[in-house]
Amino acid sequence: MKVKTKSNKVNKAWLNDHVNDTYVKLATREGYRARAAYKLKEIDETMGLIRPGHLVVDLGSTPGAWSQYVRRRLSPHGAASGTLDGTIIALDLLPMEPIEGVIFLQGDFREDEVLARLEAALAGRKADVVVSDMAPNLSGIASADAARISHLVELAIDFSRQHMKPEGALVTKLFHGGGYAELTQLFKANFKTVKPIKPKASRDKSSETFMVGIGLKAVDTN
Ligand SMILES: C[S@@+](CC[C@H](N)C(=O)[O-])C[C@H]1O[C@@H](n2cnc3c(N)ncnc32)[C@H](O)[C@@H]1O
Repeated sequence: MKVKTKSNKVNKAWLNDHVNDTYVKLATREGYRARAAYKLKEIDETMGLIRPGHLVVDLGSTPGAWSQYVRRRLSPHGAASGTLDGTIIALDLLPMEPIEGVIFLQGDFREDEVLARLEAALAGRKADVVVSDMAPNLSGIASADAARISHLVELAIDFSRQHMKPEGALVTKLFHGGGYAELTQLFKANFKTVKPIKPKASRDKSSETFMVGIGLKAVDTN
């Protein structure tokens, strides 16, 4: 007869999957489209970025969990529907199921025509917070992937320089490895406060991390 024995050894991979599964379950229970919502939630709760009344731009928004989180933050009682105190403009290459009160634009952020549509949606207003979870499709060729990731982050910084309030905040996803040190320097050159954050909902084994820049530095004219 086989006797089942319980090992006291904690299998890290199992634990990791379990924790992640917890976020999946939580997302289902709380009505979020993806566990990614908890990454932005932790970043926001740590840094105190998003407040009612804000204009928030969500880059790389599909399927929409970050927009859903922001939507709740801008609701008087954290509601997923009803009154919205603020503005959310979301953009993605892919379509996104509508979220009440969220303006959605479909297109490639790297293209001028798409940027022009985003600028038209802003209608002269400046964003309080810009969040970007954009991630390119990876080719597996490290140098090419690093260049693609860096390009999206650089564009998000450029966008913030032009369309964010001076005291605003930018959150972007980046990856440890090629380009990380240079992107950190770029953040430091552009923002007064720079903080890297690896939220608990971001898988340990993933090189994904997030960088937060708060308060635009004055342009160096020298
Ligand atoms: C990890 S997903 C975002 C998940 C989202 N934050 C959420 O909470 O549901 C990354 C998204 O970035 C989008 N993306 C990648 N490159 C893009 C680009 N150049 N322009 C617009 N969106 C892009 C992808 O289509 C994908 O939907």
